[in-house]
Amino acid sequence: MKLLTYSTAVDAAEKAFDIIKDGIKNGSIRTLGLATGGTPLKFYQKFRESGLDVSQVSTVNLDEYVGLSAEDENSYHYYMNSELFSHMNFKESFLPNGMAEDLEAECLHYESVLQKHPVDVQILGIGENGHIGFNEPGTSFDSLTHVVELTESTREANRRFFEKEEDVPTHAVSMGIQSIMAAKKIILLAFGGNKAKAVKQMMEGNVDESCPASILQKHSDVVILADTDAASLLQAISK
Ligand code: GLP
Repeated sequence: MKLLTYSTAVDAAEKAFDIIKDGIKNGSIRTLGLATGGTPLKFYQKFRESGLDVSQVSTVNLDEYVGLSAEDENSYHYYMNSELFSHMNFKESFLPNGMAEDLEAECLHYESVLQKHPVDVQILGIGENGHIGFNEPGTSFDSLTHVVELTESTREANRRFFEKEEDVPTHAVSMGIQSIMAAKKIILLAFGGNKAKAVKQMMEGNVDESCPASILQKHSDVVILADTDAASLLQAISK
């Protein structure tokens, strides 16, 4: 794992965008894996302001809440449309359908999308409990796209986006850990002191299902772009 630290999240987001821009320009990125949440917002801002031609690039997203339609402003469909897709000319974009009547069939279908569009670079955030996508602690490292019951801590962390607590969905469809690990390259963004414990566990802890992100130690091409707060508990940094 390669760690690069920056004094601000904006600097880290710029670095992430530079890597993506170069890959798109030289044709090595045909499919880009995308994430949601607060973390990639600056990255998406750089992206949409760039005017980059992405007509040859497909995107796949990590996850979607169960029960929220694309028109619901808390859905990840809505988020991706407003932050990125409506500003860019991507070839095609895929997200899991959290409104599917048969969610198990939707998971299988999404895996077939991933087979057809192998991810060249996956952008990831990290949850305070070490989750990636919506793969909560305890999720099998062998998991493929699946229906997830969100933990209370994840629902609480995402509460800020919703009007009422009871509006926060209880379930999501998420790419599994094995599906995420299939990406050729992974760029994980981590900003803020609330992520410091998870970053430390991911990088310096045991590779264990209690910290889903720790599996990234086994991937051959991972770059962590962190701000100083998120990196503050790492041994090499804190000394
Ligand atoms: C959410 C998303 C993840 C995201 C993480 C961190 O639950 N499903 O993809 O990386 O939590 O969110 P944030 O960036 O808002 O801290």
